[in-house]
Amino acid sequence: MQERFATHLIAWQRRHGRHDLPWQGSREPYAVWLSEIMLQQTQVETVIPYYQRFRARLPEVAALAAASEEEVLALWSGLGYYSRARNLHKAAKIIVQDFGGIFPREFDQIMSLPGIGRSTAAAIAAFAFGERRAILDGNVKRVFCRLFGVEGWPGEKPVENRLWALADSLLPSHDLGAYTQGLMDLGATLCRRSKPACVVCPFSEECVANRQGRQAELPTARPRKALPERHTAMLLLLHAGEILLEKRPPTGIWGGLWSLPECPTEADPADCARRLGFEAQALRPLPKLTHTFTHFRLHIQPQPLSVVRRPTKMNEPGRLWLPLADACEAALPTPVRKLIEQLEAANGASQTP
Ligand code: ADE
Repeated sequence: MQERFATHLIAWQRRHGRHDLPWQGSREPYAVWLSEIMLQQTQVETVIPYYQRFRARLPEVAALAAASEEEVLALWSGLGYYSRARNLHKAAKIIVQDFGGIFPREFDQIMSLPGIGRSTAAAIAAFAFGERRAILDGNVKRVFCRLFGVEGWPGEKPVENRLWALADSLLPSHDLGAYTQGLMDLGATLCRRSKPACVVCPFSEECVANRQGRQAELPTARPRKALPERHTAMLLLLHAGEILLEKRPPTGIWGGLWSLPECPTEADPADCARRLGFEAQALRPLPKLTHTFTHFRLHIQPQPLSVVRRPTKMNEPGRLWLPLADACEAALPTPVRKLIEQLEAANGASQTP
């Protein structure tokens, strides 16, 4: 099975895999690295425009290292998992300072960079340098669990170790780029989490999950703990067509992004605004939204307020008044962007004659 798997996968990738993604066709480590970081937990279609914008603005490691965190986060805004952007930025500075601006070739050095784990380091080593290294991201785990009937949640160490051993044992001695891309493509395009396309899969005959009709059970799901629920009210403080943004602390949820002031849902929003230094009148609340993070679910009650008295000092450190249209360009978390876009759309509609 070992050698046959690789041979079939490579042949399948050449015929049916993805070949014209914007980061393909280049072995340039910066392109490979940036795309692999963006593709962590994010689908190709979502990544493409972000990748293109990022590359156009920051075309190489030195430009990334020299950019401000503000700019890097703005380019990442909407893609989620912002620690990826902060780590990318930190890593670029390390590459400039410690490696003379050249992306390191050595596997252990690649893995020592912030934000690069074993699988991402292996993907970079395979794509950029043709090295023989096994990858094991979420998609590949699913492929192996189904194909070989691996039981148990892949987040458990013993299961993960078994999957790494499989990944290592299946590695071919040639065509590492096509093989690695083939694993990713098979997981993303055929061996999907739901509705896998087993009828066109080159491995359907030997696949344990397909033979036993257990595609829905493999990989074994994470033991379910209910996600904790949190509630917050977000204040949309409005004054003369401008909105108040507040910078989040550098670490934690949405670290370093521009967000909205928050207050407890049970508090009076006008009181909260007063505590922030604004005399304001609460307007009709917007519909609630829910944003799911890895570790909790956040229920957001958006509360627009009309600021009555113009604040004397408009911008203090960590605070920014921006016209609604400009606010949409800032480094915002997705739900905040949605809210501001809604407001802007409503504003535009009310101003049209
Ligand atoms: N997911 C992670 N890396 C990828 C890549 N290089 N191509 C497609 N999907 C991916």
